Amino acid sequence: MEVKTSLLDNMIGVGDMVLLEPLSEDSFLDNLKNRFDHNEIYTYIGSVVISLNPYRSLPIYTPDKVEEYRNRNFYELSPHIYALADEAYRSLRDQDKDQCILITGESGAGKTEASKLVMSYVAAVCGKGQEVNKVKEQLLQSNPVLEAFGNAKTVRNDNSSRFGKYMDIEFDFKGDPLGGVISNYLLEKSRVVKQPRGERNFHIFYQLLSGASDDTLKKLKLERDFSKYNYLSLDSATVSALDDAANFRTVRNAMQIVGFMEDEMQSVLELVAAVLKLGNIEFKPESRCNGMDESRIKDKNDLKEMCELLGIEQSVLERAFSYRTVEAKMEKVSTTLNVAQAYYARDALAKNLYSRLFSWLVTRINESIKAQAKTRHKVMGVLDIYGFEIFEENSFEQFIINYCNEKLQQIFIELTLREEQEEYVREGIEWTNIEYFNNAVICDLIENNQNGILAMLDEECLRPGTVTDETFLDKLNTICAQHQHFESRLSKKSKFLNDHSLPHNCFRIQHYAGKVLYRVEGFVDKNNDLLYRDLSQAMYKANHSLIKQLFPEGNPAKVNLKRPPTAGFQFKASVGTLMSNLQTKNPNYIRCIKPNDKKASHIFTESLVCHQVRYLGLMENVRVRRAGYAFRQTYEPCLERYKMLCKNTWPHWRGPARQGVEALMTDLQVPAEEFSYGRSKIFIRNPRTLFFLEEKRKQCLEDLASLIQKIYRGWKCRSHFLLLKKSQIVVASWYRRYAQQKKYQKIKHSTTVVQSYIRGWQARKLLRELKYQKKCEEAVTTISAYWHGTQVRRDYRKFFRANAGRKIYNFTIQRIMQKYFLGLKSKLPSMSPIDKSWPARPYSFLDGVHTELRRIFHLWRCKKYRSRFTEEKKAVYAEKLEASELFKDKKAVYPSSVSQPFKGDYLEISKNPKYQKLSSGVEEKILLADVVNKINRANGKGSSRIFLLTKKSVILADQKTGQVKASVPLPELASVSTSTQCDGFFALKLKEGSASAGKGDFLLSSDHLIELITKLHRISSTAADREKLSVDISDEFLVQFKQDKVCVKFIQGSHKNGNSVSCKRKNNRLLEVSVPPSP
Ligand SMILES: Nc1ncnc2c1ncn2[C@@H]1O[C@H](COP(=O)(O)OP(=O)(O)OP(=O)(O)O)[C@@H](O)[C@H]1O
Ligand SMILES: [Mg+2]
Repeated sequence: MEVKTSLLDNMIGVGDMVLLEPLSEDSFLDNLKNRFDHNEIYTYIGSVVISLNPYRSLPIYTPDKVEEYRNRNFYELSPHIYALADEAYRSLRDQDKDQCILITGESGAGKTEASKLVMSYVAAVCGKGQEVNKVKEQLLQSNPVLEAFGNAKTVRNDNSSRFGKYMDIEFDFKGDPLGGVISNYLLEKSRVVKQPRGERNFHIFYQLLSGASDDTLKKLKLERDFSKYNYLSLDSATVSALDDAANFRTVRNAMQIVGFMEDEMQSVLELVAAVLKLGNIEFKPESRCNGMDESRIKDKNDLKEMCELLGIEQSVLERAFSYRTVEAKMEKVSTTLNVAQAYYARDALAKNLYSRLFSWLVTRINESIKAQAKTRHKVMGVLDIYGFEIFEENSFEQFIINYCNEKLQQIFIELTLREEQEEYVREGIEWTNIEYFNNAVICDLIENNQNGILAMLDEECLRPGTVTDETFLDKLNTICAQHQHFESRLSKKSKFLNDHSLPHNCFRIQHYAGKVLYRVEGFVDKNNDLLYRDLSQAMYKANHSLIKQLFPEGNPAKVNLKRPPTAGFQFKASVGTLMSNLQTKNPNYIRCIKPNDKKASHIFTESLVCHQVRYLGLMENVRVRRAGYAFRQTYEPCLERYKMLCKNTWPHWRGPARQGVEALMTDLQVPAEEFSYGRSKIFIRNPRTLFFLEEKRKQCLEDLASLIQKIYRGWKCRSHFLLLKKSQIVVASWYRRYAQQKKYQKIKHSTTVVQSYIRGWQARKLLRELKYQKKCEEAVTTISAYWHGTQVRRDYRKFFRANAGRKIYNFTIQRIMQKYFLGLKSKLPSMSPIDKSWPARPYSFLDGVHTELRRIFHLWRCKKYRSRFTEEKKAVYAEKLEASELFKDKKAVYPSSVSQPFKGDYLEISKNPKYQKLSSGVEEKILLADVVNKINRANGKGSSRIFLLTKKSVILADQKTGQVKASVPLPELASVSTSTQCDGFFALKLKEGSASAGKGDFLLSSDHLIELITKLHRISSTAADREKLSVDISDEFLVQFKQDKVCVKFIQGSHKNGNSVSCKRKNNRLLEVSVPPSP
């Protein structure tokens, strides 16, 4: 649903001054201030928009805002310049009414900005398309060009328009822009040659010097330094808020878009440069012989450069600055100019040059932007004209400007009243006369053709004889003396004779906006706007296309002796045209107000605003508007807005809106004189009544809001409850379903289990039976198969291949074995038992056989070897064998004895005559004869003895004499003890109680110990009547020395003792034998 809003919603103060209650200047200002403080810079007076300059950018001109105001009714939203622009545009497009937007206000109040806002709004909401966009762009871009040439920094405004501008924008039937026409009014050309303190010349001079490239400046013969030019004021040459260089680029770009050719742009800049140069031309006096003073140019360089720029012959211009030719009755009279006149001529030329250039620019822009199509156009005019001005010193310009504003006020009153009246007629409401101040009388004072001030001035200018500003004032004093709005010292029968606020050289006019004091000085000159003909002719001779065009009156072929029209006359004419133009259009007003003099945001200077409110006639405006009815509204929105105030109309009124409103008013008991019913609108006389309605509405809205809240809350709770209920049913049904499902699944599962068990049992039973049956069948089949198999094999065995395999295998094995044995036979090793060689095994499966054959062969070979032995040799080996059994791995000296043959008789005793006697004394055969060492029992020292062994006894004899020292029968020997070491010691132990035992055991040492003991043992083992002699091998044994038992202990000597064996009696019990360590 579309939300209907109204101007009356969320108002700060009142949005429309018409509704101000009570209406007074104070409440008016308070309302403006209140709104300004809340950033509400726009306020309405009916359909007039008051705009306060915020002096800062507000976020209220965004594309969103454009959309917001687009196609909305004027009072629908809060006051905005867009609402006015939209209203004007829609009325133009939809109702085919030409529009004009009149923007007024004093300098710096924001007129130019407002006009740009209106133009940009219209550009944003009107049609689109390539061609249309180009037109829009050209129209918008004409602004920077005109601002550069026509605006200047003043003390009031950094970008003050120094000309009046009226622009007609033309649209086709669809509302698309086609083009435009610009009219300009009275450029303030005096600024070109002189600027008040703190102000600047026109922007273009500074922009050119700051922004042009070095190359361009060179071509224009200019220098960048402002101080080089007399016409440029220096005290405020650079303005912080303006970037002249960047603006220059913008202007050039805008000129290009508007359609200026490159050479045209160059010509324009040349003219600007020429004006600067002109300002630098200075004059000095020179006395002539006739006593007259004549002027001479001081430094001709600037003149030369200027002439070069404009293509003028220097001498021609030089002469034009020195002489003045006056033509009267076909006679030419030349008079010389003095220095003051020369300066006057120079400045007049500069002013004319610049103002004509400006007019040419406007014409040129118009050429570019004029509508192409010849069809009927709808027109929207935007007037951005200088506002009413009251300075301390007001001159001709202010007079002209204020005249213009007076005219605008007149047209404003006329049109507003007319509109009001028309509306009353349209709506069928009785017309009540409205009291208001009509300023026609003031306009008449100024513009009357017979005795108006302007006519008087023209008359004075054209009059022969001496004409001065004073003569002009005198004239006014006589002619206007009776006028109630004219005041001067000498008028009205000396009423003001003593009024010191009114100086003698001034007159005062009571304008609609206040009294203004004008100083007459300069009126005549400015109105004449004289340019000496010599100068215009010099200009016409220029070899520069643009200059020639600007001074057509200089053409000698068209010499016109008539005086050109005065400035006042021209202005009056153009204002007249403008007024008649505006009167054909539907007016829309924007009244701009400046909140403070400091160009500062947030400051609201009440006195200043009050002054503007007065001279803009705003209170007047409100009064006129309220004279009849303060408020009016069509029936539909009115009923829509207030229908809740009456039961009959709420919530819906079925009948026509008007009847609804009537019912409403009756119900509310609004006094009948407070309102009237028009055809389509209701008219409310007093704002009070409207506010009464608004107040009621507000209360009612609160009640309605509570009602809506109540219903909504009830509805919300109920729908929440229903939702919960519905949810509960859903949840319960789902749960029940779930529970039943679970139960069913459980039963189903149990049934399945029982079923499966039964089926399993049945199946197993069946399986068992089937298995048994199958087994029986298999058994039968197997038996029969075996039986048949046996039968068949029996019959067919001979044909089976399987047997062939075994046969082949046996045969192969046989062949291999045969080959192996034959091979082995040929490769058998030698018969030597110590030959360890044996042929390699051919197949690994013969491993066991091969080893076994080797063992058998070796045994056989050893047997063969042994069979070749004689009896003696056998005995020798038998002895050796016994020695091995006794000592192998037990006695360290044994290995060295193996290779030594057992000789037995080492002394060759039978042959040695020395032992003749000894040998003959021994009956038996001597088995062993050797020299041994007998160890002395007391000290361990040894003494040599001859040792003899027979079958029956052991004999010890002296080595030297051969005398028998001891003879021990073998049966008396108990045992032999020897060590494990590498020594030859041994002890012969005697049996206790034997005959020989009395002397004690023998401790001996022999080099042939192994042979000696082996033989001793062998004899004892062969004797049948005795037990075997035991042989003890130990490193510690006891020996019986007479009564004592002595321990013989073998210890290993160190290497330093060499290989000698030493024996020492340590004490009674110990005999220590030190033996060399084993090799
Ligand atoms: N609506 C606005 N928003 C923001 N700034 C504004 C607005 N209107 C005006 N201004 C500021 O105020 C300055 C003066 O405005 P503007 O040039 O429109 O005044 P003017 O009425 O045309 O004065 P003049 O009569 O001297 O030409 C602008 O340069 C701008 O800085
Ligand atoms: Mg302006």
